[in-house]
Amino acid sequence: MKVAPSILSADFANLQRDVERVEQAGADWIHIDAMDGHFVPNLTLGANIVSALKKVTTLPLDCHLMIANPEQYISDFAKAGADVITVHYEASQHLHRVIQQIKDCKVKAGVAVNPATPVCVIEPILQDVDLVLVMSVNPGFGGQSFIDSTLSKMKQLDELRKKHGYHYVIQVDGGINNQTAKSCQDVGVDIVVAGSYIYQSKEIPQAIASLKG
Ligand code: DX5
Ligand code: ZN
Repeated sequence: MKVAPSILSADFANLQRDVERVEQAGADWIHIDAMDGHFVPNLTLGANIVSALKKVTTLPLDCHLMIANPEQYISDFAKAGADVITVHYEASQHLHRVIQQIKDCKVKAGVAVNPATPVCVIEPILQDVDLVLVMSVNPGFGGQSFIDSTLSKMKQLDELRKKHGYHYVIQVDGGINNQTAKSCQDVGVDIVVAGSYIYQSKEIPQAIASLKG
């Protein structure tokens, strides 16, 4: 299992320190949550933070866009140094177009689904994406509880990629701790995002190791 700490739970006054801390503790990617106050009821980070962090870490920057009309911001995030850009199914009017736009920027393209969104609606795009993000909380805030019913969607995505030979990785985000990460691993998840579990831990290396399984 790979681990992507979400810097939403980091200390924004010490962002470089908190990114270096998880990098040294064995993190695989850095997860950056961009929220616009429209698609989700919160405002957070934009492409300027991505370009600032690009200078202080060599880890892949995994950008989760919780923003309406994501096509307007893809080139900003790509230029800033994003390695993965994930857009929400629910926020994209023209999903194939925005996924192609990400790939044209030579960035890995992901699609995210909210907890109440079934897998069947993204089946037409699965052959084109590098990552599928199953939200295990409703996006907008850190520190929420994992929604168990999302596990069956992860399993379904694992079965679909085996059946069709798709290449995407399966990522989960929201309410991840050592127990929920284990449940995700059992159904075929490749990478977990964790914010509060990692950054509120007194021993970050142990917290990350406990998620790796
Ligand atoms: C939620 C964000 C998550 C968030 C996870 O909308 O997408 O990445 O930081 O936080 P935890 O791990 O605390 O649930
Ligand atoms: Zn996220």
